[in-house]
Amino acid sequence: MSFRRACVIGHPVAHSRSPLIHRHWLSELKIEGDYLRQDVPPDQIAAFLKNFSASGYVGANVTVPHKEAAFKALQRADPVASYLKAANTLWLADGDLHGMNTDVYGFLAHLDEAAPDWNQHENIAVVLGAGGAARAIVYALIERGVAKIHVVNRTLPRAEVIAAEFGKNVVASAWSELPKRLREGSLLVNATSLGMTGQPLLEIDLKPMKSTATVYDIVYVPLETPLLAAARKRGLRVVDGLGMLMHQAVPGFEKWFGVRPQVSGTLRAVLLQDLGAKGRP
Ligand code: ATR
Repeated sequence: MSFRRACVIGHPVAHSRSPLIHRHWLSELKIEGDYLRQDVPPDQIAAFLKNFSASGYVGANVTVPHKEAAFKALQRADPVASYLKAANTLWLADGDLHGMNTDVYGFLAHLDEAAPDWNQHENIAVVLGAGGAARAIVYALIERGVAKIHVVNRTLPRAEVIAAEFGKNVVASAWSELPKRLREGSLLVNATSLGMTGQPLLEIDLKPMKSTATVYDIVYVPLETPLLAAARKRGLRVVDGLGMLMHQAVPGFEKWFGVRPQVSGTLRAVLLQDLGAKGRP
């Protein structure tokens, strides 16, 4: 196979850990290729993607704020990207730009790995947030047949939009109702930016949660968010955000470089070292 390049497109993109992941796999699998960061400002994204075949890349990941623009630029999209109207993984095939959304896959793959029995009994999930990440997570939980999903958000109308879209198993709640929702929940997912370095803290009291509940934070900088620290202290099962980041990268690498890579402890150690050494973005 000839030398291939892929990239992550975002704005800003300097903080992205995707190059570390893909370069680790390229080196581990002895594949000739590279993976770069491509900062594209919002006013240039449509033109960049329209001419993607001239960029020299075989494909790309797409991060904030370009996932919706990427979806619009596709000639072909997988069912998940088509539903969410957002793509995070692109590749060229016969000159056409194809795309998929692997956030749903990454979220579930890591949850299945970290908490294999999370969905064995009737599940009631509480999702904090109502942005693009929360929507992908609600999609994932519905796909797995979760009986009820409470979407709790600071701005209630945004949660109501998600509830209306996904049907009767999804219920919108105001932040003030959180203690009541936590009492019911067997799975809590933070899909807001709260708790991320540089953002306000996510301060919620986990006492109402059942002792068998699982707490999943998709924030991974810092890796041990205050939410996860509180969950651990309370004896709950915790699932951190780094696994989702690693797993969502797998399908893209396979498309671009032709081999399905493994999410391993070695890769996790590489990322942990970087997060520790570079501190906070
Ligand atoms: P993304 O598409 O990455 O999910 P987003 O659409 O900006 O990003 O959504 C961010 C989420 O974090 C939203 O649910 C947002 O709540 P609002 O809908 O009320 O804006 C939530 N969020 C961000 N900052 C917050 C804060 N200080 N307090 C509570 N929620 C916050």
